[in-house]
Amino acid sequence: MGFNLADIHARFNAGISTVAIDSPTGAEQSVVAQITNEFLNVLSPPRRMRVLLWDTARQLQVLSGGNDYGSTPDGSAGTSGAPVDLLKYILSLCSGDSSTPKSLFIVKDVYPYISGASASPTVIRWLKEVCYALKRSQHRLILLHDGEQTPIVFQDLIADLKHPLPDESEATAIVQRRIAALQDSARSQRQSLPVNLDDDGMKRLVRAVLGMTQEAIDDVLQLVAIADRRIDDRSIEAINRIKQQRYASQGIEYAQAPDVEVQGMPILSEWATRMGCLLEPTAQDWNIPFPKGMLLAGEGGTGKTLGVKCLAKTWGLPIVVLDLSKLMQKELGASEANLRAVIQAAEAIAPSILMLDEIDKMLGSSENDGGTSSRILGYFLQWFQEHNSSVFVAATANEPWKLKPELIRRFAKCFLVDLPDIPARRGIFQVQMERYRLLETIGPDIAKDWLDRLSEQTPDFTGDEIRKVVHESAVMAYAAGQPGQTTLEAMLVEINLKEPQFRRNNQRLLALREWASSGNASFVREASQRITHEQSLGDRLVNFAD
Ligand SMILES: Nc1ncnc2c1ncn2[C@@H]1O[C@H](COP(=O)(O)OP(=O)(O)OP(=O)(O)O)[C@@H](O)[C@H]1O
Ligand SMILES: [Mg+2]
Repeated sequence: MGFNLADIHARFNAGISTVAIDSPTGAEQSVVAQITNEFLNVLSPPRRMRVLLWDTARQLQVLSGGNDYGSTPDGSAGTSGAPVDLLKYILSLCSGDSSTPKSLFIVKDVYPYISGASASPTVIRWLKEVCYALKRSQHRLILLHDGEQTPIVFQDLIADLKHPLPDESEATAIVQRRIAALQDSARSQRQSLPVNLDDDGMKRLVRAVLGMTQEAIDDVLQLVAIADRRIDDRSIEAINRIKQQRYASQGIEYAQAPDVEVQGMPILSEWATRMGCLLEPTAQDWNIPFPKGMLLAGEGGTGKTLGVKCLAKTWGLPIVVLDLSKLMQKELGASEANLRAVIQAAEAIAPSILMLDEIDKMLGSSENDGGTSSRILGYFLQWFQEHNSSVFVAATANEPWKLKPELIRRFAKCFLVDLPDIPARRGIFQVQMERYRLLETIGPDIAKDWLDRLSEQTPDFTGDEIRKVVHESAVMAYAAGQPGQTTLEAMLVEINLKEPQFRRNNQRLLALREWASSGNASFVREASQRITHEQSLGDRLVNFAD
């Protein structure tokens, strides 16, 4: 479960003497304990090794098993909290005689010295020397880090391994074990810990803890059990809140539920429904993978983000938001580490949707930021191509022509989200007015008449501009002491006060249509004809990808 010791043995047996393990900080202790137990107790004598642990605070310690810190090894008196001293000590051991016991060094805290902005050329040099020397010795080195990247100079010297987070079946086992242990300890104190969850509830509980380390799952279950003295739906909500806060502190957000049902995107809705069945496990029996992603291109406020949220609702999947602008940190290597953390979060809760808003701004081809965008793009493309987790990438772009063709090619589907036509605007007015409770006091015939008039009077309005008209009418009615009671005239006044953004300034909109229609032979003909008509754009969602 979890950490795979066989991977370490495989590398060591293949003559690779230095291994780096990417493991969440919360799992550090258990990784050390598992490795120590393996090399001190499980392996039989010829392969058994002395295990030494180093970190900047406690320096070098010989471990005696369990979590206890042991003694300082002989001859390491000079080994301080500075990594160079440790590396020199390992080097001296490698060149020593063969009577030195075979030693396995587990080293924390060294990555900040070899990767990222504060990397030290001196430490890098000494580590290289150590890696060369270890290859000719019987000693081995394991470096621990949390989401950092092994610098390219160590490519042939250090093997990278990953400590995966528990998958669904592992998480189920952890949850069951932990609940049983909590119930035992409640009983021993003459208390009880009832679990009021049916099979579905248990599944939801397990889904809630996905994305956490084993240690975090244990902690969170203990926390809710002590707080509520039972495990039920409330515990699941509490765990979801804790998880979201945890992710938020790492810059990872979950998208909120859609405010309204998206209107005027029949082709997208139909496609989403059709693809939804591929999420069923039986699809895998037929080797049909879930589509990797889609790109929604279009002007601001046309409902692209809303479209993704509604798609997630149709599929019943959570959305992890990847905010590329937050991700682009100047510090060399930090952006990639952040990107990895977000992708890992999405994979941990898969099946899930990874939402990348405005990728053209971040992954466009001509960025002048010292190569950060191209490194991020490279990393993302590689993951996008190679991953086989059920993470669906939903990206949006205002200027898709800025994206590299190799990125666009990876999306299973690309859609152009145009301005809404009359029926779409009618639908948007309806859902927005229902949301602000503006249709409750008028009869259905009048409502129909209003919706007809409003949608006819709003050519070139985006969905967001319609939302604003409705919002302002609702605010005015409320401020006038008549909540929910506006008039058609008042709404028409709001409309006339607004100059829709794309009425005059439609260069980019035209370019988007041009880009969509010239890009693919299977452009929906019906829609493409209508799209050339002013104000009557037909199905506002035009599928041009296949
Ligand atoms: N097609 C639509 N159906 C219903 N509501 C819509 C639609 N389009 C826009 N809206 C309303 O406008 C709001 C903003 O739209 P949204 O954020 O999805 O636009 P966007 O295309 O993502 O814009 P941007 O490019 O600026 O991110 C939505 O939350 C919704 O209330
Ligand atoms: Mg958006």
